[in-house]
Amino acid sequence: MNWKIVAVLLFLVWEDTVGQKPLAEIRSWTCYENDYQVLQRVSMLEVRQALLEETVAEQKAEINALSQQIADMQQMTWGSWGEWGQCDFSCNRSVTEGVRVQTRFRNMTVGSVVLQTETDQRPCNAVQFAGCDRSSSADDNYATAFSFTDEIAQATCTAIRPEGGYVRAVRRTCSKQAVSCEDLCKSLSATCFNALHVYQPENVLGHAETGRAGLKTYRYNSCLGSFCGPNFCCCDGI
Ligand SMILES: *[C@@H]1O[C@H](CO)[C@@H](O)[C@H](O)[C@H]1NC(C)=O
Ligand SMILES: *[C@@H]1O[C@H](CO)[C@@H](O)[C@H](O)[C@H]1NC(C)=O
Repeated sequence: MNWKIVAVLLFLVWEDTVGQKPLAEIRSWTCYENDYQVLQRVSMLEVRQALLEETVAEQKAEINALSQQIADMQQMTWGSWGEWGQCDFSCNRSVTEGVRVQTRFRNMTVGSVVLQTETDQRPCNAVQFAGCDRSSSADDNYATAFSFTDEIAQATCTAIRPEGGYVRAVRRTCSKQAVSCEDLCKSLSATCFNALHVYQPENVLGHAETGRAGLKTYRYNSCLGSFCGPNFCCCDGI
């Protein structure tokens, strides 16, 4: 049996018998008996005190644990994104944006308990810029370019602008229905200075392949085309 239970039982028995007797009655006993009863009472009180101290300590520990839990709750943050998963190499183009995607996850945890998991997807042909290594809120993200054509257009527009200054390559829907680059740049409070069509690669070249063209661009030297047509507008002054 647990010593605490034994102690409590002993204490209850003692309280029922000796403990309830008024001091006057104890005094009427012989000196020897009196000393013995007082000693016994002191020892029982000591046991009771030890039990109470232990209870207080246990309660303190529980209060500390709960306070820690509250502090943890207040510090709930998203963990880092995990590594991107493998691209699925079956030709399954039914996923978002009609392209193959890869997926990554991150957890919101308190202690080691996962409260929430978030999923992020990107096309397998996305280009990842240097982004933040660690996430700091639910909304942040790696800077991801969803099409390599953005980088080609940005570099080309920058290179062909005669003057210094800001340059932005802005995607244009390649269609008769879309406004010209002139108007598209204007709608962004900028000025168009050229237009491009950056093609998807006609040939995907092998690692060491030479002597064959892969990429292709068309340069319009005009901002007026409202057909398909330009798929990037070179805007300056944004
Ligand atoms: C998220 O939590 C699950 C379950 O605990 C774990 O298997 C997974 O590795 C965690 N992912 C990240 C990115 O921390
Ligand atoms: C293609 O992907 C979708 C969405 O992930 C999935 O539901 C479907 O089963 C996949 N089809 C094939 C043939 O893998």
